[in-house]
Amino acid sequence: MTEDASAKKELAAIKGTKDILPGEVEKWQALEGLVRATFELYGFRELRAPVFEATELFEKGTGSTSDVVTKEMYTFTDKGGRSLTLRPEYTPSVVRAIIEHRLDLEGAPMRYYFMGPMFRYDKPQKGRYRQFHQVDIEVFGEKDAAVDAEIIEMAHTLLGELGVSGTETLVNSVGCRACRPAYSAALREAAAKRKSELCADCQRKAETNPLRIFDCKIGSCQEVARSFPLMQDYLCAECREHFAALLACLDVFKIPYRVDPRLVRGLDYYTKTTFEVVSSHLGAQNALLGGGRYDDMMKDFGGPDICGTGFAMGIERVLSIAELAPRARKMLYLAYLGDEAKKTGLELARYFRTNGVECLVEYKDRGMKAHFGRANKLQASWVLIVGENELKSGHFGLKDMATGRQVDGPREELLSLLRES
Ligand code: HAM
Repeated sequence: MTEDASAKKELAAIKGTKDILPGEVEKWQALEGLVRATFELYGFRELRAPVFEATELFEKGTGSTSDVVTKEMYTFTDKGGRSLTLRPEYTPSVVRAIIEHRLDLEGAPMRYYFMGPMFRYDKPQKGRYRQFHQVDIEVFGEKDAAVDAEIIEMAHTLLGELGVSGTETLVNSVGCRACRPAYSAALREAAAKRKSELCADCQRKAETNPLRIFDCKIGSCQEVARSFPLMQDYLCAECREHFAALLACLDVFKIPYRVDPRLVRGLDYYTKTTFEVVSSHLGAQNALLGGGRYDDMMKDFGGPDICGTGFAMGIERVLSIAELAPRARKMLYLAYLGDEAKKTGLELARYFRTNGVECLVEYKDRGMKAHFGRANKLQASWVLIVGENELKSGHFGLKDMATGRQVDGPREELLSLLRES
């Protein structure tokens, strides 16, 4: 490798991260606009938390037996000696913010959304990155299963707006602290019987949290897990009722779903409802979004006893199959000829921009032909000509690049024309 090439490699973006360049970023902006518009219709408001938090927050929230915490966190010690972690997910941050700012006392509906980067040290592959982006929503203080159904319905509405079709919705109940211990004991017993067939990681999980064996991607472990007892047979009356109510509400919304009794999801905090929306167009990383209920996190953090439910959607995955029309751009290219015209050009550019017209000036000494060549290349909608004659008359030439028609007039008249077209 030449010195130049190796310097370039050293300075390249880190594996598992990506630049989002002009040309692609318009799709992100279109998605972000639709996300805001959709969530605000359901009474959600944006809550922005920091990118890094105390490591304990995720150990306690996401859970010490989850793969995210045991293998995937970007954890570092800062100069003050404190262990910090780049957020691998958003849910614990929202819960922390509610407790810290006592948002529960404000009396406003506790419905929050957020869009931003998350960080997980996993093996990068298609649909799996080390810095990826989520759209996250969380609702607090609603025990009713109707809200679990409502957020699933909201996810469907959003996916519809984004032009994503051909999805499948999987739902399950993972029980609660009353009924899960008996189930975990049954799982532990079942796992112990077939321990030698499990991978080393699952052998450990069999002791720490046997539910996590369902997350293993190794075929032989999945095969063993298929013989395990199911949570559904262990649900307490309250969890059973909650699950039945969830399915009934999904029927009201006419959302098709499939009950997947092994959908435990990879994070430790879920209680009762879990769900995922998957797509067959995505390959191995097929989950577009996932979420569920977590009724104990707030109280486990030492806050008030307030239940939560929510989901997060992976923006990269959704964008890879979304059909989005980026916002149409119309640009005015300002062509000035000479130094005097440049000054007037600057003033004119300011005038048009202040009035909402996208206007580009490039500070190069170009002749008229070169200006038009450049405007063509940039696919400008119009060219505004500012030359010596125009300076004297105060009338400027506006050429429509699609039709080739040119109109001359004072700036106010040209602005009305631009606004009409
Ligand atoms: P999660 O299932 O870990 O849930 O992530 C949600 C979504 O983020 C996934 O369905 C996927 O689309 C995307 N995603 C996850 N990891 C990656 C990655 N490495 N690269 C690209 N995309 C990825 C959560 O994060 C929970 N906080 C969801 C939740 C909110 N539960 C309750 N409230």
